[in-house]
Amino acid sequence: MVRYAAMTGTGAYIPEKVLTNVNLENIVDTNDEWIRQRTGIVKRHIAEPDMAVSDLCLRAARRAIKDAEIDPLDIDLIIVGTVTSDTLFPSTACYVQRGLGAKKAYAFDLAAACAGFVYGLDLADGLIKSGRYETILVIGGEVLSRIVDWTDRNTCVLFGDAAGAAILQATDEEKGILASYCGSDGDYSDTDLLGVPAGGSRMPATCETVNQKLHTIKMRGREVFKLGVRIMPEAALKALALAGITIDEVDLFIPHQANIRIIEAVGDRLGIPREKVYINVDRYGNTSAATTIVALDEAIREGRVNSGDMILMVTFGAGLTWGSTLIKL
Ligand code: ACO
Repeated sequence: MVRYAAMTGTGAYIPEKVLTNVNLENIVDTNDEWIRQRTGIVKRHIAEPDMAVSDLCLRAARRAIKDAEIDPLDIDLIIVGTVTSDTLFPSTACYVQRGLGAKKAYAFDLAAACAGFVYGLDLADGLIKSGRYETILVIGGEVLSRIVDWTDRNTCVLFGDAAGAAILQATDEEKGILASYCGSDGDYSDTDLLGVPAGGSRMPATCETVNQKLHTIKMRGREVFKLGVRIMPEAALKALALAGITIDEVDLFIPHQANIRIIEAVGDRLGIPREKVYINVDRYGNTSAATTIVALDEAIREGRVNSGDMILMVTFGAGLTWGSTLIKL
């Protein structure tokens, strides 16, 4: 019998505190008009100082568990995609496990930058299809405000904090993840293209690394922009081809929310009408591994998608990493 990984519950958590473009005008030399025109972002949410990423992930996970009507003890595996783990180790996933009391699960973090959630779905799908596990919790969560250089206008205006979670469960019905495709290219792994240079084993923390702000996000925005516009349509088409589905059959397209201009260019290349493209980058900015699952959770709550609808997700991030998933709700 063919097994599928159905998405039986979703949840998200967005911190309350809002930072608008106008607020940012007091922090760096920028302005609301520039940020809106170049990125589409109007505001982003910032976690309170006493909250780490596991606190956001835990709240999102509790909502997904409630939505799926399961018990935390039903969970076999917890995967957290994040680049802003509470600590280098233990993993954020283990903190989430403790918070949930998910004693029967094993738990680990997945380091794939913005592609963390979509990579997590791919793994969960394979593990459920293999017959090894019944119920998997996949989370994408970030507190990017902690690794942003608040003196660098090129990057600090782009990012926000959020978490989203999904419960995947084995079923013999043809639903859930119909196709999934992931890729990466380490030739683009230079940290000045997109990354955080210090704090790992190559460049441990010293007074100098702190003074030089090497623990914060570095990015060559224009190059990353072009890569995103090229890679995301290719990845999206791969998942569609694997499932034998055409773009016209997709009810909602959820691209990684990094920049409205990237989102529109990717949608146009795929020939998907604008009304089928989900956009929340205006309200949250780029929340890295959280963007796609936060968007899907919102789309479900808003009634924009219903049971049986086809959702195409696509993402790309540092590494480079990329991935796409076709989900039948
Ligand atoms: N406010 C005002 N002016 C600014 C700002 C700002 N916040 N930031 C940059 N500028 C200036 C620049 O200094 C430059 O001025 P100059 O021409 O005098 O040198 C001018 O605006 C144009 O800068 P560009 O970098 O060419 O602007 P661009 O149109 O490329 O937009 C942006 C920059 C928004 C970063 C864009 O390149 C982008 O979105 N790139 C992709 C980002 C992305 O997808 N990142 C994903 C990574 S997320 C992750 O993995 C964690």
